[in-house]
Amino acid sequence: METLLTKSLGLRFPIVSAPLGRGSSASYLGALADAGSMGFVALLHMKEDKVASELEPIIQRTAGRFGVNLTLVADQRRRLATALELGVKNVSVWQGVPDEYVSQAKRAGANVFWTVRGPDEARRARELGVDFIVCQGREAGGHLVGEAPLMSWLPVVVDAANGVPVLAAGGIADGRGLAAALALGASGAWMGTRFVASEESNLPDGYKRSVVKATASDLLETTLFDGGWPDSPHRVIRNETVAAWEAAGCPPSGARPGEGDIIATPVDEDPVRRYAVSTPWSGMGEAWSLGPFYAGMSATLIDGILPIREILARTTRDAEAILANVLDHLKTR
Ligand SMILES: Cc1cc2nc3c(=O)[nH]c(=O)nc-3n(C[C@H](O)[C@H](O)[C@H](O)COP(=O)(O)O)c2cc1C
Repeated sequence: METLLTKSLGLRFPIVSAPLGRGSSASYLGALADAGSMGFVALLHMKEDKVASELEPIIQRTAGRFGVNLTLVADQRRRLATALELGVKNVSVWQGVPDEYVSQAKRAGANVFWTVRGPDEARRARELGVDFIVCQGREAGGHLVGEAPLMSWLPVVVDAANGVPVLAAGGIADGRGLAAALALGASGAWMGTRFVASEESNLPDGYKRSVVKATASDLLETTLFDGGWPDSPHRVIRNETVAAWEAAGCPPSGARPGEGDIIATPVDEDPVRRYAVSTPWSGMGEAWSLGPFYAGMSATLIDGILPIREILARTTRDAEAILANVLDHLKTR
């Protein structure tokens, strides 16, 4: 399948992986690149002076086919400068004012992706010369900027983008979602939760299994995991930490069960406290089960932990079949 996304980036599939915290390891991003797709890694959790040493193995493993993601709630100029010096060619931004970062990345010849709140930011993205707009629907997993569900938001953002390719994010986990996104004007999908439950993501198995098990009522939009990033809505699966907070009557920040407890002291990292924003990862030890299980409504569609290759091939093949047969299909309805 060819779209503006696959043609510009030389991909075999119109699908890329969202950053998944420390789940986006070099081997995870390498598996995506090997399969003919690519993924993003967030720089948020990397200390400024460690960005180079964390990116080097990723650059080697992927031969440069990956992107970095900057959350603009903090000053990210040094992190971006380091990534660009190392030759990173794809930069994604979201949350905050991206103008300066877009020009810094464009000057270095990188492609820029901006995950927008809605049509106003999409118009601004076009003015700034952003290469790809990511339209996040509110049903997405992880932190949320999209202001409405994808079905109604994507066409509005596509119109505002006025020719800039748009990637659809939120609620897409199979060929039906990809076909719908393409029909609504997207050039591809930016998927997160589906890749959490991939064999290769560097995330605890129990977290992956909870994505497979989750139904709509297990998912929650909240600002609960606010350690390091307050007042930022995110979607998670209810786990032990969420259940204890709900059982205590949903007290405000500062008065929650186990507030301030150190839940893990991983090697070479700062201690992790309860309610910290960090995605649980494989190196976190047993405390992974207390961290935020970021996941979107797309979890309801996911019924197995699959290899990346199969996720990409099956999703694309099914979308192609649906798009080819949709008129025949309608005759039987
Ligand atoms: C585990 C996880 C971590 C995420 N971390 C980030 C991040 O650091 N930066 C970002 O731009 N988006 C992040 N997201 C949000 C995704 O970019 C995307 O909008 C979302 O996953 C789309 O919805 P889906 O999960 O239903 O596919 C994250 C999502 C998940 C599931």
